[in-house]
Amino acid sequence: MQDFPGKTAVITGGASGIGLAMGEAFAAEGMNIVLADIEAQPLQQAVTRLQQQGANCIGVVTDVAEAEAVQALADRAVAQFGAIHVACNNAGVFTGGLLWEESLADYRWVLDVNLWGVIHGIRSFLPVMQAQNCECHMVNTASMAALTAMPYSGIYHMSKHAVLALSESLYHELAFHSPQVKLSVLCPEAINTGIARAERNRPRRYSDAGDVVSSDARDLVMESLAASVAGGLGPEIMAQRVLQAIRNEQFYILSEEAWRESANLRLDDIREGRNPTFAPPL
Ligand SMILES: NC(=O)c1ccc[n+]([C@@H]2O[C@H](COP(=O)([O-])OP(=O)(O)OC[C@H]3O[C@@H](n4cnc5c(N)ncnc54)[C@H](O)[C@@H]3O)[C@@H](O)[C@H]2O)c1
Repeated sequence: MQDFPGKTAVITGGASGIGLAMGEAFAAEGMNIVLADIEAQPLQQAVTRLQQQGANCIGVVTDVAEAEAVQALADRAVAQFGAIHVACNNAGVFTGGLLWEESLADYRWVLDVNLWGVIHGIRSFLPVMQAQNCECHMVNTASMAALTAMPYSGIYHMSKHAVLALSESLYHELAFHSPQVKLSVLCPEAINTGIARAERNRPRRYSDAGDVVSSDARDLVMESLAASVAGGLGPEIMAQRVLQAIRNEQFYILSEEAWRESANLRLDDIREGRNPTFAPPL
């Protein structure tokens, strides 16, 4: 896609971090923006911020774990702006710990948001884009965690590996059946956002008594994540990478060297039949 002015972008997880930065970058290109997020107040603040920058922007409170909510989001975007040209399935959460200690609610929450949120986006946004018969682009946010598998973050890695595989299959299906719809998968490294505070938007149904595990492993990984994202790149850098990928019809949007080395080492292990090497990105 080369022409952005007057076109419409829908972004889930749009109230914060990478989602908000994509909203600002698309708005600067003259696009109409639909921000969707589970957190109503930050969403309203984000919408106001974009409107003050001159954007046509609305906010739709949406829980991407719910198929009906994502369908209602797509319907609202079309009702407001008449079309969806760019859809970013970006909402995501993180929790960590030992895989045998984490609760079923931990598994369900992370998979419901990170994986099912993308599935719902595919099922609700793609039919709109296909029916429009014009150039469109979907962006699924995975992570460099989709190409690696570190300890204490297994649920998150699993969710992001699934998003990557889903996106790779979808890439081929779109190329065969709907070539006017392009696809990218965004794989950020550590980015300075609110992801280490993801518990702030864990819905009650995943946080009943006993469902939120407290453990040394979790404390360790949450502290380490907070430190790593605090020293990470700004989310606006991701937004610029996404814009460039949309312009260039580039599928993989990958991070910089350290994470790529970890990902390549994992592939070497697989190619050479070795057991997994522990190689955190440094
Ligand atoms: N920050 C990083 O280091 C990093 C690295 C790789 C991938 N990512 C991915 O980037 C994406 C954006 O995260 P971020 O880093 O900007 O974090 P963030 O916490 O700043 O933003 C995530 C947004 O998603 C929203 N959200 C959470 N649950 C939701 C739900 N059920 N429905 C709708 N919205 C929901 C949050 O309220 C928040 O506004 C996520 O998919 C994350 O996994 C982040």
